[in-house]
Amino acid sequence: MPATEEHLRNAAEILSSGGVVAFPTETVYGLGGLTLSVPAVEKIHQLKGRPADNPLIAHVLDIEGAMRVAAHWPDSCSKLAAAFWPGPLTLVVARASQVPRQATGGRDTVAVRAPRHPIARRLLELLNGQPLSAPSANPSGRTSATSAAHVVHDFQHVPQLMVLDGGACEVGIESTVLDMTAELPMVLRPGSVSAEQIGSVLGCHVGTKHSAEQGASPGTASSHYAPRTPAVLVKPPHLEEFLAAQREQCVVLMVAPLGAPGTVRQKHHVILMPELCEAYAAVLYDRLRAADAHNCSMIVIQEPSPQGGQWAGVIDRLRRATHTKASES
Ligand code: TXA
Ligand code: MG
Repeated sequence: MPATEEHLRNAAEILSSGGVVAFPTETVYGLGGLTLSVPAVEKIHQLKGRPADNPLIAHVLDIEGAMRVAAHWPDSCSKLAAAFWPGPLTLVVARASQVPRQATGGRDTVAVRAPRHPIARRLLELLNGQPLSAPSANPSGRTSATSAAHVVHDFQHVPQLMVLDGGACEVGIESTVLDMTAELPMVLRPGSVSAEQIGSVLGCHVGTKHSAEQGASPGTASSHYAPRTPAVLVKPPHLEEFLAAQREQCVVLMVAPLGAPGTVRQKHHVILMPELCEAYAAVLYDRLRAADAHNCSMIVIQEPSPQGGQWAGVIDRLRRATHTKASES
């Protein structure tokens, strides 16, 4: 549905009565319900097929809203909010007792962020700033949704689900998740706000926890964001040789300013990816979904060379989208 004021008001009514609505944020689409409503939070888990112990992000308008879901709000969080909110940075803080455990996967912490997408903000305003818990609007473990069409595709078996259309998401990958409950801030999920940027605001070192070592953020499981077609990540120097050795047709996601070599094009289906990080992130999930739709035997992704902090989020998603049990050993 186009996000007209009338539809936004309908959406706010659905949410106020404990229902669930899909809406755009600047990162990816979210599947939202009131944080304080246990039935809404349970419905979100059920629709996504998400394990009950995987906590949700509470979306708020501002610091004041965040303080309502947090038991303690350190000054460092205010500094980060002043620098990056509204925007794609999620802060993990101590959970206020009024936030139901079902909304935080049973944890004593809560993740909170203020989105900057005008439709998400208008929805929060119509809810008088009540927090809205929203995971990415996709079946658990699968590629996130960055357009209303992606959400409709993924939840076609839920015809009554309201999907507010805000066009394509600007950022394209999920927010940076930062744990603020430990001695030193720790990135649990990299995103477009980099550890370096966070460190320069706080004036301290910011760690990054790699997915293999975390139970701290179950959404950071080694395999996540995965297309249905098996996918592999191949370093640029090996790409041509790797593709030449494949018997069956593959879909190839590659960055090639001068176009893919003819030998690759003759045999495989090539999808060109943008060279710049922001542009790459913005189209990543849409291209992965397009690649999946080809129903080829394999999706082959040219590994971008990590050229600084902003690529960390993209490379993290690619690694997990291409993770298989076999590659774990
Ligand atoms: O950009 C985003 O963050 C999007 C939009 C809709 O805001 N949301 C999103 O939500 O990506 P979700 O549920 O798909 O991912 C939330 C991530 C998961 O990795 C989850 O485990 C982690 O945040 N998380 C949430 N609460 C946490 C907590 N209390 N402690 C540690 N990790 C937490
Ligand atoms: Mg998700």
